[in-house]
Amino acid sequence: MSKKVLILSGSPRKGGNSDLLCDEFLRGAQETGNEVEKIFLRSKKVAPCNACYFCKKDGKCAIQDDMGEILDKMQAADVIVMASPVYFYSIDAQMKAVIDRSVARWMDIPNKEFYYIMTAAEESETVMDCTLACFRGFAACLKGAKEKGVIYGKGVYEAGAIKGMPAMREAYEMGKGV
Ligand SMILES: Cc1cc2nc3c(=O)[nH]c(=O)nc-3n(C[C@H](O)[C@H](O)[C@H](O)COP(=O)(O)O)c2cc1C
Repeated sequence: MSKKVLILSGSPRKGGNSDLLCDEFLRGAQETGNEVEKIFLRSKKVAPCNACYFCKKDGKCAIQDDMGEILDKMQAADVIVMASPVYFYSIDAQMKAVIDRSVARWMDIPNKEFYYIMTAAEESETVMDCTLACFRGFAACLKGAKEKGVIYGKGVYEAGAIKGMPAMREAYEMGKGV
């Protein structure tokens, strides 16, 4: 069955390591007939949440930027892929803004399948623990969220260093299997 797949590429580096892994995931998912869209978050305007709770009224945010469109796409998707580089053992600001701004409609994003993609310079076992916990913490708030896979792109610092590494193949295969 064909699925609607939304990839949120959080790195500010277009063609960076996590973005390349997103492209491989996308390639795999498209090859198996899914409808796939990647959003490069840096190209969107998403301000941080102001916690004004204007959204409590009807789910509309007081901030008029691109987050409304991103939330529409998250709602419509069957599968959501979230990708971020490890920044100080956490996620990056682009991804965090999207997660926080989903407060406007987080209860309207039920039953999604989630995949996570992470990249980091270090290779230690624990380098991605907090980053993964951030993704999992978000999904834990959403009704019926199911974690389906995680890609760990470790030991990559310069943009493009991920090319030729096993994680690229893993992302492609994971995409094929959505
Ligand atoms: C602000 C910043 C913070 C970073 N923090 C970490 C870190 O805590 N641990 C680590 O291993 N790499 C860290 N890195 C390196 C990136 O995670 C690494 O270069 C990664 O491959 C970037 O992914 P990208 O190419 O998708 O942007 C940091 C890089 C930046 C710019």
